Amino acid sequence: MSTKKSMTLIDNRTNTQYEYPILDGTRGPSVVDLRSFFKDTGMFTFDPGYTSTASCQSEITFINGAKGELRYRGIPIEELAENHSYLEACFLLLNGRLPDKEELTDFDLELRHRAFIPESSRYLFTAFPDGAHPMATLSASVTALSSFYATHLNLESDEEFSEMANRILAKIPTLAAFAYRHYLGIPFIQPDIDLSFTENFLAMMRAYPGHKMKLGRDGHQNITPLEVEALDTIFTLHADHEQNASTTVVRGVASTGAHPYVAISSGIAALWGRAHGGANESVIAQLTMIGSVDNVDAFIARAKDPDDDFRLMGFGHRVYKNFDPRAKILKKLQDKLKEELDLDSNLMKIAARIEEIALSDEYFVSRNLYPNIDFYSGIILTALQIPKEMFTPIFVIGRTIGWIAQWTEFKKDPMSKIARPRQLYTGK
Ligand code: ACO
Repeated sequence: MSTKKSMTLIDNRTNTQYEYPILDGTRGPSVVDLRSFFKDTGMFTFDPGYTSTASCQSEITFINGAKGELRYRGIPIEELAENHSYLEACFLLLNGRLPDKEELTDFDLELRHRAFIPESSRYLFTAFPDGAHPMATLSASVTALSSFYATHLNLESDEEFSEMANRILAKIPTLAAFAYRHYLGIPFIQPDIDLSFTENFLAMMRAYPGHKMKLGRDGHQNITPLEVEALDTIFTLHADHEQNASTTVVRGVASTGAHPYVAISSGIAALWGRAHGGANESVIAQLTMIGSVDNVDAFIARAKDPDDDFRLMGFGHRVYKNFDPRAKILKKLQDKLKEELDLDSNLMKIAARIEEIALSDEYFVSRNLYPNIDFYSGIILTALQIPKEMFTPIFVIGRTIGWIAQWTEFKKDPMSKIARPRQLYTGK
């Protein structure tokens, strides 16, 4: 057998041979370097949906879909979710290592100071109709933010990069909370500099003006540490996921030289789709539609029917053909919340029945259709009394750091090119 690190392709029409180098990563499948393929052969490669295409090289996130493994900068997601905060995960994704205590304090303080949005940008929200979906307003408000910070970034300056990154990271929860409060038609709540990143977001969604929480018979019902911990974990689990659809969009927009916040706004738009981040909202909408444990069998039958386009939301994944490791962590969290918050809702019962059937049914097992992160995150967010319209904005808050890290990597990679795929023309 040859020891050459290359692959030979033979065009059987002419018996011409072409040789292409094989490149190895540090983990995961190797790639065949086909960059000169068109120049060599006059043909394109055909791969709709990029099922076999590595669009870039990256050292940020690693997924092994067959093993159900996910790592940020080499650290397993289980370790990060269990022992580190979301802000530590953000620092890690940006800098390639975890922060020490002092660095974490400085990072936290900087984000608290930067959480406020330019005063005039809040009037943008009122231009949207009452009840506008928070994803629409959030995406628009992030695009609008680019007009407040329009200066051209100096790619050589680490300081400018980190200012750009910290600013958007800090402001996204405020914009998401404003989008939500406009959706409800209630007054905006400004960030509170005394609160942590995650608690602040919960407060901006829930509080009454003056940062007062809802009054109960026993006084103010505050945000509990368990709620903050659960949401913080959800942010960490969503922080990055290598070259998924929205990240590919962010890199694509970055490749045209557009402003980084516009690239992130495009990522938000892509994430909204129900085959991607919008699935968490669809999971709860679907569980509500199913309505009762007695109806589960009928809906499972519909999901299996090839003539019915009904799909079980929160099941299946392009990359994970084993259990989604994030779903495993959330399942544990769901059980903890169930115990500590004494939850036993109808939706949870329906979800548990679907999970039970799908994990043993031949249709789902043979296609490797396991519950994904969205199946559990929707249920957990409902348990935290967060309305379903905020599920995808919460995904956005978690994922913004991943988009920033990927944008930055793209910009600093000398191999980066404008994203411009080709086509197989079949028209007139
Ligand atoms: N319910 C029922 N059947 C399904 C489901 C589902 N949720 N997902 C896939 N299938 C079936 C398909 O019909 C197909 O069956 P066939 O082989 O008989 O034709 C087979 O499984 C393979 O499905 P594909 O669509 O080819 O798989 P792909 O990898 O392209 O799609 C996707 C992955 C989009 C996530 C899909 O599983 C899906 O639509 N799931 C529901 C939506 C969802 O939960 N999305 C969240 C993804 S996670 C995230 O974005 C954070």
